[in-house]
Amino acid sequence: MLQNLRKLQLTEVQRDGMRAAGRFNAQLMDYLRPFIQPGITTGEIDRLVHDYTVQHRHTPATLGYLGYSRSCCTSVNDVICHGIPGDCALKDGDIINVDITSIVDGWHGDQSETFLVGNVCEEGRAVCQCSFDAMHRAIAALEPGCPVSVIGDNVVEEATKWGFSVVREYVGHGLGRRFHQYPNIPHFPDRKSRQERLLPGMCFTVEPMINAGTRFTKLDTKDNWTVRTRDGRLSAQFEHTVLMTERGPEILTQPENGPRVGHRFL
Ligand code: MF3
Ligand code: CO
Ligand code: CO
Repeated sequence: MLQNLRKLQLTEVQRDGMRAAGRFNAQLMDYLRPFIQPGITTGEIDRLVHDYTVQHRHTPATLGYLGYSRSCCTSVNDVICHGIPGDCALKDGDIINVDITSIVDGWHGDQSETFLVGNVCEEGRAVCQCSFDAMHRAIAALEPGCPVSVIGDNVVEEATKWGFSVVREYVGHGLGRRFHQYPNIPHFPDRKSRQERLLPGMCFTVEPMINAGTRFTKLDTKDNWTVRTRDGRLSAQFEHTVLMTERGPEILTQPENGPRVGHRFL
C-alpha cells in the first residue's frame, strides 16, 4: 500500500514506449511461429529469438536475468514454466510454451504462447484452450480501477469449468522499465489482490498456467529453473502484456498471425 502508485501510472509518451516494446515482442513471436515444427531443438529456437532481437538492436530481457543464461523459456509438455532451451528436439504430439521478453528503448514486452506440435492429443489441446480462454476471459473482465483479483476470479472459474487446476507458485506481474515489478498478478484470488487496484496507465501481464492434473509443482534441483507438474501431466500457458487505460484494457502483445480471442485449439 506504500507503493508509489503515481509512478506506475504511465504518461501517454511512456505508454507509447510500452506499446512499441509489445509490438516488437509480438513481431518476434510471429517470426518464430513457422519454425515451431517437429525436429527443431529448443536451443535452436533460443538462437532464433536471440539473433532476431539483437539484429533489430533490442535486448532479450531474460539473458543474464537473475543468472538465467538464455533469451527465452521453452517449456515442453509437463514443464509448467522456465524450461531452459537446450538439445531437446520437438516431436509430433508435443506442446511447447515459448515465453519471450524484449527490452525496447528501456521498456519491456513480455508474452508467451503454447504451440501444438503436429498431432496433439485431446487433453493437450484442451489445456491449451483452457489457458488461452482463461487469459482472454480475465483480460475482458478488467475495468479501470478494478481489483487485481478480477483476474484470479476469472481464471479459476474457467479452469474449474474444464476440471483443470491453476498454478499458484508463479504469477503475473507489473512491468515497465523493470521486468518484474508491483503489482503481483496471481491467477487465483487472494486477500492482497482483492485490495490492490489496476489504475489507468499501469502495465502488467496476465499469464495463467493451467495443469491437466494437480496444481502442485516441482522445481528441478539440477538446474534450479525448470518447473514441472508434480504428477507429470500436461501444463499450458499463454501470456500477454496489458496496459490499463481510462477506457479499459489494451493488449500490447497481440501478434498479427497469432491466435486471437475466440481461437479454437480443439
Ligand atoms: N518471461 C517470464 C515471465 O513471464 C519470466 C522468465 S524469467 C527467466 O515472467 F529468467 F526465467 F527467464
Ligand atoms: Co513471460
Ligand atoms: Co511475465
